[in-house]
This record gives sequence, structure tokens and C-alpha cells, in this order.
Amino acid sequence: MCKIATIVTSLTLFAGCYSSPFSHFAPHAVVHNDTEHLRKSYNYIVIGGGTSGLVVANRLTENPRVTVLVIEYGYVDGQENGTAVPGLPVPGKYLRTDISIPQSGLNNRTAPLYTGAVVGGGTVVNGMFFARGSRGDYDAWEQLGNPGWGWDGLLPYFKKSETFTPPTEELQEMFPGTISSDLKPHGIGGPVGSSFSNYQYPVIKNFFAGWKDIGIKINSQPNDGNATGAFYSTISAYAKNQSRSHASNAYYRPIAGVRKNFHLITGHTVTKINFSKDKRAVSVDFISRETNKTSTIKTDREIILAAGAARSPQILQLSGIGPKKLLSGLGIKTIADLPGVGMNFQDQPTIYMQFSYNNYTFPTPDWMFSNASWAAEQLEIYYKNRTGPMTIPYLGGSSVAFLPLQNITSDYHSVVTSAASINISSLLPTTAHSSIFSGYRAQSALLQSLYLSPHAAVTEIAWEGGNTLPVAIIRPFSRGSIYINTTNPLSPPIIDFNTFSHPTDLAIALASVKKVREWISSSPMRALGTLETFPGANITSDAEIETFIRDAATSSWQHPTSTTSMMKRELGGVVDPALQVYGTTGLRVVDAGVFPMAVAGHSSSSVYAVAEKVSGQWWFNLSRMWLLMFSGVGGGYHQGELGIGVGMFAA
Ligand SMILES: Cc1cc2nc3c(=O)[nH]c(=O)nc-3n(C[C@H](O)[C@H](O)[C@H](O)COP(=O)(O)OP(=O)(O)OC[C@H]3O[C@@H](n4cnc5c(N)ncnc54)[C@H](O)[C@@H]3O)c2cc1C
Ligand SMILES: *[C@@H]1O[C@H](CO)[C@@H](O)[C@H](O)[C@H]1NC(C)=O
Ligand SMILES: *[C@@H]1O[C@H](CO)[C@@H](O)[C@H](O)[C@H]1NC(C)=O
Ligand SMILES: *[C@@H]1O[C@H](CO)[C@@H](O)[C@H](O)[C@H]1NC(C)=O
Ligand SMILES: *[C@@H]1O[C@H](CO)[C@@H](O)[C@H](O)[C@H]1NC(C)=O
Ligand SMILES: *[C@@H]1O[C@H](CO)[C@@H](O)[C@H](O)[C@H]1NC(C)=O
Ligand SMILES: *[C@@H]1O[C@H](CO)[C@@H](O)[C@H](O)[C@H]1NC(C)=O
Ligand SMILES: *[C@@H]1O[C@H](CO)[C@@H](O)[C@H](O)[C@H]1NC(C)=O
Ligand SMILES: *[C@@H]1O[C@H](CO)[C@@H](O)[C@H](O)[C@H]1NC(C)=O
Ligand SMILES: *[C@@H]1O[C@H](CO)[C@@H](O)[C@H](O)[C@H]1NC(C)=O
Ligand SMILES: *[C@@H]1O[C@H](CO)[C@@H](O)[C@H](O)[C@H]1NC(C)=O
Ligand SMILES: *[C@@H]1O[C@H](CO)[C@@H](O)[C@H](O)[C@H]1NC(C)=O
Ligand SMILES: *[C@@H]1O[C@H](CO)[C@@H](O)[C@H](O)[C@H]1NC(C)=O
Repeated sequence: MCKIATIVTSLTLFAGCYSSPFSHFAPHAVVHNDTEHLRKSYNYIVIGGGTSGLVVANRLTENPRVTVLVIEYGYVDGQENGTAVPGLPVPGKYLRTDISIPQSGLNNRTAPLYTGAVVGGGTVVNGMFFARGSRGDYDAWEQLGNPGWGWDGLLPYFKKSETFTPPTEELQEMFPGTISSDLKPHGIGGPVGSSFSNYQYPVIKNFFAGWKDIGIKINSQPNDGNATGAFYSTISAYAKNQSRSHASNAYYRPIAGVRKNFHLITGHTVTKINFSKDKRAVSVDFISRETNKTSTIKTDREIILAAGAARSPQILQLSGIGPKKLLSGLGIKTIADLPGVGMNFQDQPTIYMQFSYNNYTFPTPDWMFSNASWAAEQLEIYYKNRTGPMTIPYLGGSSVAFLPLQNITSDYHSVVTSAASINISSLLPTTAHSSIFSGYRAQSALLQSLYLSPHAAVTEIAWEGGNTLPVAIIRPFSRGSIYINTTNPLSPPIIDFNTFSHPTDLAIALASVKKVREWISSSPMRALGTLETFPGANITSDAEIETFIRDAATSSWQHPTSTTSMMKRELGGVVDPALQVYGTTGLRVVDAGVFPMAVAGHSSSSVYAVAEKVSGQWWFNLSRMWLLMFSGVGGGYHQGELGIGVGMFAA
């Protein structure tokens, strides 16, 4: 079925002067799980069709003259109810589980790291929590040497990515003064749905009343750069049908089969990026998960790495970009000695406390599991009416308290003073390059000021109304690493969260557990007959609570970031403010690995914003102009040759 004629027609709608580059264009430019119909070369190759990768591929292919190939390990989801209905579990086949090495901070227990392995990546499988971090989170990125990447620089891109729908009147009436319908910080024309579950369990009122009782502010507008206090979060869902909005239905499905310049190949693992002698990224090697067939596809422009914070460092290291000592130890030829690749790894340790309630106002979220006929009824109501408990994300919810350090402990100055006195150099591997220590010191100074700020949270306490209460340490001090120990690209990398290596993280966890106890002792929570069942009332001394935390915490709140940081090279950075990998040309990283520091909150909204921002920058536009001027010439665009400097990016 050769469709070259159609393609030519659609292209000539845009300009008449196009000619040769598309003459061997793939006949049907949709999804492939074999390499047969791919071109030999594309303008851009995107590694990883997850959240960030699909944003960039979508924006690049707005120009019909730009050809893009996305190579994804997973497959396109089957639009099962589990990927659409917030209250249902997502099919397990879309989730990849890696296991860390034993964590000494967790009494040598290992910890899982979950990621999405499907077109759309993490957003297909995630908890749909869709709030932004605070202004100070992003301003710290800018202060680490990244002009334009502060809150003000990112806000237009948060807006660009979303269509926000205000809460229903019913919901506003149920929670008076708690949920803002203000459109000002929001976008109303972007691809990702941002809205609210239209149902809450009645006891959520006690959640808010309890926090208010103990002096925590109820924040009706957490998305304007003040993500602190107790608030009711936006979720990534389409308001009208109350179904999950993810990168695949937001950025991929609307153009699949429509834009012939957008190719996606699924079920393939990228194993290596090849470089020319002058260190330009020129091709990508990948292998079929079904047949083991290996292939190489070339680019005449750029390779965009978007395999996520867990896998992008592995691909770079396998390709000769990373700490030289590591690479030469494995016999890999170093293309660029970048000690920061895989370092500065951050995730948010989480403790799941358990409670029971003797005076609960029914129904409860636990009925989903304990009362099958009720759960079936709720699902039916959802399908018929798009209302009820099934509009609440599975095991999730959206009522949270984001607490600044001073709202957890009155002793916060001494927590920060003792953080400042820690010799952080001793917390990193002794073999680490001096730039890694410099970066850690720079981040440490910024963290200390954020810990003192009343406008920046350090802990998240989430409650959907059931027995389990996650307590997440969202602005960690500890830094881990992800690195390969073999040249086999199909072996998982070694994952070391280094959880609680920095004592301040444990001190904040301890203070947070005590704060939770203060909250459940408030009269609105007492009225529910709340009883702590885990760790339990007999765990009282600081030493006992610390032991409980080390025995029970997990390393990840499913928000791995910062393994390919956007920072100065002398701070251990891997990419510059244009997200280009130092020491190479034609190679960018665009996923959550580029966040220099974790956002104190959940990551997906920021991943979208970062990917929208990089796509919206002038060099892509310039390259479009370049192609317009020289359409028919095909490649030939070499950013370095155009003498483009990073400084201009900030403008
Ligand atoms: C279980 C879970 C719950 C979460 N809950 C929330 C939440 O409630 N709110 C929130 O904001 N965030 C949440 N997150 C985090 C959020 O979804 C992620 O931060 C975000 O999706 C990451 O985007 P990314 O582009 O960096 O990577 P991803 O979206 O993970 O994309 C990377 C893609 O690359 C592919 N890939 C990896 N290696 C290769 C390779 N070698 N070759 C080819 N392809 C490859 C992967 O299959 C994946 O599709 C959650 C994540 C998970 C996993
Ligand atoms: C890959 O494609 C083949 C042929 O088109 C199909 O039979 C097979 O089911 C596909 N595999 C997956 C996992 O989609
Ligand atoms: C999936 O959802 C549709 C409605 O959207 C419903 O009719 C169907 O029964 C659901 N399937 C299952 C297996 O529950
Ligand atoms: C953890 O393992 C290390 C190294 O094997 C050992 O020295 C240490 O005693 C162990 N710690 C605990 C709490 O088991
Ligand atoms: C933290 O506590 C201060 C002083 O009690 C209070 O003014 C402020 O609103 C609280 N902040 C939050 C986010 O609750
Ligand atoms: C929001 O945070 C900024 C600092 O980032 C602060 O100046 C402002 O007062 C805060 N607003 C509210 C309503 O707390
Ligand atoms: C929900 O609505 C969105 C936006 O209109 C649409 O793209 C999506 O397919 C719908 N999903 C379901 C499950 O109805
Ligand atoms: C990329 O490198 C591999 C060896 O690692 C080699 O087999 C392949 O031919 C190279 N491709 C190009 C285009 O240089
Ligand atoms: C692919 O390779 C793996 C191990 O390298 C092997 O176990 C598997 O059988 C191979 N699959 C095919 C289809 O050849
Ligand atoms: C259906 O939705 C309407 C409005 O959205 C609501 O008033 C009504 O209670 C819902 N019905 C059921 C059975 O939940
Ligand atoms: C790499 O580390 C893993 C996990 O610790 C181990 O199982 C494997 O044997 C190691 N491989 C090599 C080549 O050292
Ligand atoms: C139980 O909850 C009801 C309201 O839901 C309240 O009126 C009553 O005082 C509570 N009982 C106790 C012992 O707190
Ligand atoms: C606390 O009580 C539980 C049983 O309720 C018991 O298993 C646990 O060992 C006790 N812990 C301490 C530190 O006393």
C-alpha cells in the first residue's frame, strides 16, 4: 500500500519546493514493531517514547518537513479500562520494576524502582497526581546556572501542556474555600487534561479540618508557585469523561497516522548511540525484544534521549559518555568524560503508615477491596455517569499536606544548622570526580535555604481516606547513583538510591511521623476514632521511630530524577541549559534526568513543562527556518557550525 502520493499531497499543502528527502519515505507512517518500513535516516531520533519523548516528537513534527523516529521499548497501550478509569489498577505489563542494591540506610534492604514501559511512559501508569512544585524549586534550578529555567521561565510551558477545567460546583460546595476555580495560573488549550476527581469520600473533610486545627494553612491554589499547605490537587484527567490523560493520548494518538513525518517503532531497546570522529551523534543501535534483530538508524540532525532518569544514564554510559574510570574499567571507549552521568540521582523516600478507624463515616476507600458488590456498583456508576469513587486514582487520591520544615518542627533552625555541619563529601563515593562534590555543595547551600523557607515544602502527607497514609520526604538531601557494571545493554543498570545517607533526611522523616501523630490527634481526626496500627502506639522514642523508618521505608515515591543533570560542567552537570550533552554535538537529553534537583512534589507536570520548553526554543524553530529556506536539501544543519552559543538560549 504505497501512499507516497498522499504524503506528497499533504506536504505540498505547506510548500511547493520540497523534493528529494522524502523520496524513500516509509509508505505508512504509523506504528511499527519491525524495522522493515523505517527510513535509513531521520532528522531526529527520539530514544524513548515516554512522557518527554512524545512531547518533543509531537512538537518537532508540527513542521511537516521534519522527520522524526521514536524508538520505544514498550508497546502502544490497548486502551484497556485500566489505563483510562482512574480507580482501576493499570495492567502490570506496562510497568517495569528494577530492584536497587541493598541500602545501608534501610538496614540493607533493597527497594523497587517502578517506571512505565509503554508508549506514554510513566504517565500511562502513574497515580495521576498533577500539581506543580513551588516557585523556589525551579528558581533553584536557575540558580545552579540555568538561565530561563526558573518558575517564571517555565510557567508558560506548564500552561502550554495543559487544558485545565475548574472543579464542579458540587465539589466546590462540598469543600468551601478549599478548591480554586481560578484560571490564571493555568492553560486552557494544551494537550493534557488537568482537572479534579468529581467525588471525594466524606472523611476528606476531616483531613482538611484536622490540618487546619493544628495550624496548617488550607491552600486553595497550589498551582501558582506556592505548593504548600493542605490542598486538593489537580489530577491528569479529562474533566468531561473523568478518564486518565497521559502522554500517549495527549501527544501521540491525535497525530498517529496523520503526520506522515512521525514514525514510531515499538518493542525495541536502544543499546547504543554512535558518534562520528568529531563527537557528533550520528546513529542509534537498537534490538528487537521479539526477534533479537539488531538495527542501526542514522540521523542527519539530532538524537534526543528521553528514556527516563533510570535508563538514559545507562544508554549514555554504554555509548562512551560518562565517568571515564567507569567506562575504561568496562573496556568502553570514552567519547566524553562526563563524571556526572548517573550521579546526583534523587528520589523521595516514603513511609507507609497504617491506621484504622472506629467511627468512620461510610463509604471508605477500603470497600474497593473488601466489598466486591459495592465496588462493582461504583464501576457501573462510573461507566454510566462518570461520577463516584472510581474517579479517584487507584490507591491514590488527591488530598495532601505539603509541609515546609518550620511547619513540621519548631526546632527547624537546628535541623538546618546540623545539615550545614555535615561533611557531605563523605556521603559520596570516594572515587567520585571533584566536580561531583562541587555540585553537591552548591545544591546543599540551596537546599538549606529552601528548608528555611515558609514557601517550600519538604514533606508530603497524602490521604485518600483509607487505612494507608504515605509520608514522603520530597526534598531529599541524599544523592544516589545509577551505573552499568556490564557492557550487556540488556542487563539492568545498578541502582543505588543511597537512601538516608544524609542524616537530615532521616531527621525530617522522624519529625514528619511525629507531625502525622499530631494531626491524627486533632479533634476532627479523633472524631473518626483514628488508631495508628503501624508502626503502632508502642513505638514512641525517637530511636524506636528511627528504627521503624529504616525497617519500613522504601526509597522511591516513583519520581526518579536528576541522573543527567542540567548544571555547569564544573558542578558535575551533564547537559547545558539547551539540554545538549557536554562534549558532544547533536545530542540532547529531555527527560526527568535533567532536573538538577527533585521538584518537591510529583514530577509529571514538570516533565511536560521541561519538554515543552525545550521544544519551544529557538533552535528548533531556527532549524525549521533553515529547512524552509533549504527544503529539499535535507540534512546539513549543524548547530555547532552555526556558532550558536548557550547564552542565547536564556534570551
Ligand atoms: C508507578 C508510578 C506512579 C507515579 N505517580 C505519579 C503521580 O501520581 N504524579 C506525577 O506527577 N508523577 C508520577 N509518576 C512520575 C511520572 O510519571 C514520571 O516522572 C514521568 O512520566 C517521567 O517522564 P520521562 O519522560 O522522564 O520518562 P518516562 O515517561 O518513563 O519515559 C521513558 C520511556 O523510555 C522507554 N525506554 C527506556 N529505556 C529504553 C531503551 N533503552 N530503548 C527504548 N526505550 C526505552 C521507557 O519504556 C519509557 O516509555 C509516577 C511514576 C510511576 C512509574
Ligand atoms: C508485532 O507485529 C506483528 C505483525 O505486525 C504482530 O503480529 C505482533 O503481534 C506485533 N507484536 C506486538 C507485541 O505488538
Ligand atoms: C470497559 O468500559 C466500558 C465502558 O467504557 C464498559 O462497557 C466495559 O464493560 C468495560 N469493560 C470491562 C472489562 O469492565
Ligand atoms: C549491612 O551490610 C554491611 C556490609 O555488608 C554490613 O557491614 C552491615 O553490618 C549491615 N548492616 C545491617 C544493619 O545489617
Ligand atoms: C506554617 O506555620 C506558620 C506559623 O504558624 C503559619 O503562618 C503558616 O501558614 C504555616 N504554613 C503552612 C503551609 O501551613
Ligand atoms: C508564595 O510564595 C512566594 C515566594 O515564593 C511568597 O512571596 C508569597 O508570599 C507566597 N504567597 C502566599 C499566598 O503564600
Ligand atoms: C475522554 O476525553 C478525551 C478528550 O476529549 C478523549 O481524548 C478520550 O479518548 C476520552 N476517553 C475516554 C476513555 O472516553
Ligand atoms: C555503531 O557501533 C557499532 C558497534 O558498537 C557498529 O556495529 C555499528 O556499525 C556502528 N554504526 C555506525 C553507523 O557507525
Ligand atoms: C533473544 O536472546 C535471548 C538471550 O540473549 C534468548 O534467550 C532468546 O531466546 C532470544 N530470542 C530469539 C527470538 O531469538
Ligand atoms: C450522576 O451525575 C450527576 C451529576 O454529575 C449527579 O448529580 C448524580 O448523583 C450522579 N448519579 C449517580 C448515580 O452517581
Ligand atoms: C552486576 O551487578 C549485578 C547486581 O549486583 C550482579 O548480579 C552481576 O553479576 C554484576 N555483573 C557483573 C558483570 O559484574
Ligand atoms: C462519630 O462520628 C459522628 C459524626 O460522623 C460524630 O457525631 C460522633 O461524635 C463521633 N463519635 C465519637 C466517639 O467521636
Ligand atoms: C509493639 O507492639 C507490637 C504488637 O502490637 C509488637 O509486635 C512490637 O514488637 C512492639 N514493639 C515494641 C518496640 O515494643
